[in-house]
Amino acid sequence: MRVLVAGANGNTARRIVRGLVNGGYEVRGLVRKEEQTPNVRDDGAEPVLCDLEQEEANGAIGEAMEGCDAIIFAAGAGAGSGEARKETMDYGGAVKLVEAAESRGVQRYLILSSTGADDPEAREEAMRPYLSAKGRADERLRESSLDYTIIRPGRLTDDEGTGRIAAAESLGRRGEIPREDVAATFVAALENPDTIGKTFEILSGDVAIKEALERL
Ligand SMILES: NC(=O)c1ccc[n+]([C@@H]2O[C@H](COP(=O)([O-])OP(=O)(O)OC[C@H]3O[C@@H](n4cnc5c(N)ncnc54)[C@H](OP(=O)(O)O)[C@@H]3O)[C@@H](O)[C@H]2O)c1
Repeated sequence: MRVLVAGANGNTARRIVRGLVNGGYEVRGLVRKEEQTPNVRDDGAEPVLCDLEQEEANGAIGEAMEGCDAIIFAAGAGAGSGEARKETMDYGGAVKLVEAAESRGVQRYLILSSTGADDPEAREEAMRPYLSAKGRADERLRESSLDYTIIRPGRLTDDEGTGRIAAAESLGRRGEIPREDVAATFVAALENPDTIGKTFEILSGDVAIKEALERL
């Protein structure tokens, strides 16, 4: 199985790429800058260059998707970016990939969303444009014909992973989770077809990842 990971030089995405490669998947890593390609190769994936915010990205996206069976969207505008890039990247970039997947028949699509994306108004004002962009991208994915899984982690940390999480449609609390555990959850979700059509939150917890997904 070949998987396209969007945002492959990102802090979480690199861990996803390495997890997939370790699991025996062929991985194509989409990055937007030439200087990011050595990291993708070091992680064991094939780099493809594409800036998801460029008007003319569709051709490059098509090439990137060629021969892929699944897509993991783990790109993001990042904490330092302004409101405009929440629209062009966190919403627009994700949706561009959804539409390309639909037109090219790449059926499986997993997205790295965020807790709070279901109700941006409930969060502090500074977070709302970001959470609104994430929530609307999730909504577009849910309305698509794709086999989607929407995974919404809390605050991401670089702590060592524990292999254990809490997962539920709504966890009803805030918290954090190591990027390593988020990455492992993506690999496990790809391997569990029962996660298709589901949207769920994840935080650090005490249930083994595979089991936590089986309980959803
Ligand atoms: N940080 C948190 O606490 C938190 C919590 C919940 C959810 N999330 C979500 O989790 C995801 C990953 O977070 P992270 O901290 O791992 O992110 P990250 O390290 O900032 O990685 C994001 C990646 O996306 C790439 N990217 C940005 N614009 C792009 C474009 N136009 N075309 C292609 N790639 C582009 C970035 O490349 P450049 O280096 O070139 O910009 C970067 O490699 C994000 O979607 C974020 O919204 C984050």
